[in-house]
Amino acid sequence: MAFLGLFCLLVLHSVALGAVLPDETLADLSVNTYNRLRATAEDENIFFSPLSIALAMGMMELGAQGSTQKEIRHSMGYDSLKSGEEFSFLEDFSNMLAAKESQYVMKIANSLFVQNGFHINEEFLQMLKKYFHAEVNHVDFSHNVAVADRINQWVENNTSNMLKGLVSPRDFDATTHLVLVNALYFKGNWKSQFRPENTRTFSFTKDDESEIQIPMMYQQGEFYYGEFSDGSNEAGGIYQVLEIPYEGEDLSMMLVLSRQEVPLATLEPLVKAQLIEEWARSVKKQKVEVYLPRFTVEQEVDLKDVLKALGITEIFIKNANLTALSDSKEIFLSKAIHKAFLEVNEEGSEAAAASGMIAISRMAVLYPQVIVDHPFFFLIRSRRTGTILFLGRVMHPETLNTSGHDFEEL
Ligand SMILES: *[C@@H]1O[C@H](CO)[C@@H](O)[C@H](O)[C@H]1NC(C)=O
Ligand SMILES: *[C@@H]1O[C@H](CO)[C@@H](O)[C@H](O)[C@H]1NC(C)=O
Ligand SMILES: *[C@@H]1O[C@H](CO)[C@@H](O)[C@H](O)[C@H]1NC(C)=O
Ligand SMILES: *[C@@H]1O[C@H](CO)[C@@H](O)[C@H](O)[C@H]1NC(C)=O
Repeated sequence: MAFLGLFCLLVLHSVALGAVLPDETLADLSVNTYNRLRATAEDENIFFSPLSIALAMGMMELGAQGSTQKEIRHSMGYDSLKSGEEFSFLEDFSNMLAAKESQYVMKIANSLFVQNGFHINEEFLQMLKKYFHAEVNHVDFSHNVAVADRINQWVENNTSNMLKGLVSPRDFDATTHLVLVNALYFKGNWKSQFRPENTRTFSFTKDDESEIQIPMMYQQGEFYYGEFSDGSNEAGGIYQVLEIPYEGEDLSMMLVLSRQEVPLATLEPLVKAQLIEEWARSVKKQKVEVYLPRFTVEQEVDLKDVLKALGITEIFIKNANLTALSDSKEIFLSKAIHKAFLEVNEEGSEAAAASGMIAISRMAVLYPQVIVDHPFFFLIRSRRTGTILFLGRVMHPETLNTSGHDFEEL
């Protein structure tokens, strides 16, 4: 019997990208995945990359045939595309995001680690290189400590040393035949940065009404802003949407904030791909006072559980049809992991900001104020195509660590 492991990992910094996949594809995948995570992680932070999931699943799909492939296409939302067209989209998408001329840094790397002597179909390998620019590494999974080291080294190098210790030796044994890895790294600066001396300690009220102290960044500037109604009368039923662009304005972070008294959970059921598009269409550039926590979010997702919930099940069972990958009839996917990390700070990027203590008063409101001092929903999207690259929510920003990142324990 053979096992196949899949790791999909993503590291990003203050983030974003641009894209060409049909919008609704990744938007639906994003929202469905979010809802799944929401159901299993009540009151927890959520953060993941739909892009990374789509790339990892794309590599798997190349190896699938018959009903296994059909199920993947359907669940990923590719039914309306011509057969195989999704691979060109994913390739274009990666090329465009990682384009050298952009004002952010984006690195996308894919790799196949395969057991020495295990036969992989030549055509699969060629397509993996053509569409995903994947590297092929031969390893011996029975030396599980050495393999884990090697994969971790690869991941570390391809994430600018941000992510360490992704896999552990116990993930592999003599039955492991191959592992596919996607690594993603992003770093971008805000178009309008926050001044570190304006950051100060502020209370953040969690949905259970307990308060914690967090570093709150502040600036007044031109952003895309809108107010929307959730259709209820609770606290006026109004919620705010703020879009903060990164340098170059191709990518932005969109924040969705309910009124202080209203738990985020009352907004979440409204979130649909079409609503996200409506937010994007409706926000208007205007002066806004922004209070945004400096925060990090990290999450490890059992992607197998998510994919199954999305309807991708056959690839995980013994009669998975992966005949495009290998003639071996025995191969199926045993694990799928997704990890993601985000840090938002004053620059929009890595630099550790010293917190000056300049007081900020909640003075008379000249402009709309967005005070992100309670749980919020956010996404990072391409302003050109609307494609969602990252999606998450922050329930407890106390997981924030200002002293750099140590992924040793991830
Ligand atoms: C896999 O799918 C292909 C294409 O539909 C089919 O020809 C083949 O018989 C299937 N193989 C298995 C083992 O199910
Ligand atoms: C990823 O890391 C490996 C190992 O260090 C390196 O050989 C490879 O060139 C990197 N890939 C990319 C796309 O940077
Ligand atoms: C990391 O990858 C780069 C290519 O992307 C390569 O030049 C470098 O040697 C690699 N470093 C290590 C430690 O493997
Ligand atoms: C923050 O960093 C400190 C020291 O590096 C560590 O002890 C602590 O566990 C970290 N907190 C979180 C929530 O990661």
